[in-house]
Amino acid sequence: MAHDPLGSEGAMSGAETLTSIIEWPVPDALRASPAVANRNLLARKYRTCDPDTILKNYVYMDRKKVLEEFSILFESLRSFAFRGRGIEIGAGVAVFSAMVCREFPGVESIHAIEVVPDVVRFLQPVAIRHIAGDRAAKIVSVIGSFDHMRLGDGQYDFCIEIGSLHHSDQLVHTPKEIAAKLKPGGHLIMVDRAHHNSLTERQRELILNVEYRDEWKRQNGYPPDRLTRRENGEHEITLREWYESLEAAGFEIERRFELRAVSLKKFLRNCLLMVPFPVRERLNWLPSRVRPQEGGMWWMLLGTCSAADAPSRCFIGLFVTTRPSWREKFSHA
Ligand SMILES: C[S@@+](CC[C@H](N)C(=O)[O-])C[C@H]1O[C@@H](n2cnc3c(N)ncnc32)[C@H](O)[C@@H]1O
Repeated sequence: MAHDPLGSEGAMSGAETLTSIIEWPVPDALRASPAVANRNLLARKYRTCDPDTILKNYVYMDRKKVLEEFSILFESLRSFAFRGRGIEIGAGVAVFSAMVCREFPGVESIHAIEVVPDVVRFLQPVAIRHIAGDRAAKIVSVIGSFDHMRLGDGQYDFCIEIGSLHHSDQLVHTPKEIAAKLKPGGHLIMVDRAHHNSLTERQRELILNVEYRDEWKRQNGYPPDRLTRRENGEHEITLREWYESLEAAGFEIERRFELRAVSLKKFLRNCLLMVPFPVRERLNWLPSRVRPQEGGMWWMLLGTCSAADAPSRCFIGLFVTTRPSWREKFSHA
């Protein structure tokens, strides 16, 4: 398919798929990147497996754990009720979309956008049905990039993402693209990694140059070649950088919440991470790990005593909305 990021919505393809899928053009460089090529291999490796094996290999949780962990996430959003039309960016097997459709009957549809074609073709339909059940049809699977969304501007009520926005190569552009698709006052719920603001360029480089272990590559069906975090599409972003890029896109941060695994072992490990990076680098004490966020130690100490069912992935959630000034502008239009 020709690369034309400015064209209209895109054609339905379905010949070799389990369900009908919308396909948008993806820039050649992104399509050919190791991050996309390798995840295609992963999809082919697991395509004939049972749904829980697919989930465990893409989101590191089976269905039971997905239900438990997302209920913690929905509690963190307090009374926020998803409704109307949504978008999920970097959906992977679309677990977040499936859980939102499952739990919120007011949701009409979610476009689940994922750039890796075979993840969408082979894994998404299985995972979505496994979690969303008879609400699976509300999810529209899209092969495409979140940087070129062929969706109408100002038409969506919410956008969700989990662990994906930090894969953006364009931290200024992607949030703007999302804001353009949302209705005035529409919400972005992002659940992602955010480093402490003390992260230095030197430590960022060190983290991005970390290579994946052979065992991890084998498990994922990746080739044995050297693969760094940078080549796998990772970016290391501080909380300040997130805030700056979101605010530049016209979002206002409504709330921040923490989703973090807690245990005494993790607490002690975080104590070690309070030692400044240059010292840890010299002593080779977890130099590729960043110190915890402000207040994180207290939070973790209290959580260690109480949170038996804490989530297993460590994320910061941001609940953000397009600026009220935009709402004003549109409501008077
Ligand atoms: C760490 S995974 C998270 C997947 C999913 N949200 C989850 O929690 O399992 C990041 C996902 O973003 C996808 N991705 C990266 N760049 C993308 C882009 N430009 N457009 C759409 N998806 C992208 C990757 O292929 C990958 O599936």
